[in-house]
Amino acid sequence: MMPSFRMTTIFVLLAGMILGGSKAQQLIPTFYGNTCPNLTTIVGGVLQQAVQSDIRIGAKLIRAHFHDCMVDGCDGPLLLDNDAANGIVSEKDATPNQMIDVDIVDDIKTALENACPGVVSCADILALGSQIGVSLAGGPTWQVPLGRRDSRTANQDGTSAIPSPFDDFSVLQRKFRDVGLDDSTDLVALSGAHTFGRARCQTFSRRIGTDPTLDPTISDVLVQICPQGGNGNALANLDSSTADDFDNNYYTNLQNNRGLLQTDQSLFSTTNAGTVAIVNRFAGGQRDFFDAFVQSMINMGNISPLTGSNGEIRTNCRRIN
Ligand code: HEM
Repeated sequence: MMPSFRMTTIFVLLAGMILGGSKAQQLIPTFYGNTCPNLTTIVGGVLQQAVQSDIRIGAKLIRAHFHDCMVDGCDGPLLLDNDAANGIVSEKDATPNQMIDVDIVDDIKTALENACPGVVSCADILALGSQIGVSLAGGPTWQVPLGRRDSRTANQDGTSAIPSPFDDFSVLQRKFRDVGLDDSTDLVALSGAHTFGRARCQTFSRRIGTDPTLDPTISDVLVQICPQGGNGNALANLDSSTADDFDNNYYTNLQNNRGLLQTDQSLFSTTNAGTVAIVNRFAGGQRDFFDAFVQSMINMGNISPLTGSNGEIRTNCRRIN
């Protein structure tokens, strides 16, 4: 009896070690508690300074974090420049990333390398920078789970997983499901990031004067910014009521046919969609929106991170080590 009991115990322990060892490590807010204790203060300092001259800094960071996470998980390949010697074809050159501007990441990385060299990943800079950017614009503050590592490859073709402003509602939902996000609450809550930032005319101008779910008053304003044959790169506010504040007006806009992108408006205007009730709930209470947004940001930040000894901690976010 005893040997067999002992054998079983050893087997169970071994199996546990093997399974436990192969399981991705959990991200935790205190990951850099010992190795870079002033992390939040350092990132916050750089961003507070930067927002003085660029009100969109938070919008740029959170969008980059989203586009990073949608392509093979939150592991920072989006930040890599072209590098033929190492086989890197930059994701920055893909269509969905044309307006991505991540220069601020270099400033944050430099500040962090001075304080705690070789410790904080570029993927975590995007996650933490997004949170700080949101709260600097008046949005919620939350504890960001950390401990992501950086990829050593990029996947330009994989950027087709990023939602396009021309996607049908069902495609939008599928792209969220494909990465393990919920196609109702996560979709509606995360789209609320369009409460700040800008979009180029080419991403919405086809709606002007043609789309019955675009309010005519807004159409009149937009046609001034985006006249036919005009500059497709001219910018309009994603949130026409409080352009640079992180609040729930994005949802009241949708209730009034004032969503800028067709995909924004589809959350409210698609007949019988489960998202309509969620839009109404977030429009009715900012607290509800903020609580859901925080949870959905944590869900998004958890998409297939590299952890443990996978990947690396890049010294320069633009290049693999
Ligand atoms: C649901 C599907 C989504 C679609 C179709 C979409 C599409 C777009 C488009 C077309 C733009 C303008 C880009 C340009 O002009 O090139 C934009 C901007 C932006 N997006 Fe999204 N997006 C989506 C979800 C998200 C999510 C989940 C977040 C963050 C959590 C986000 C954050 C932003 C921000 C902050 C901007 C403004 C960036 C700036 O001012 O530079 N978007 N989005």
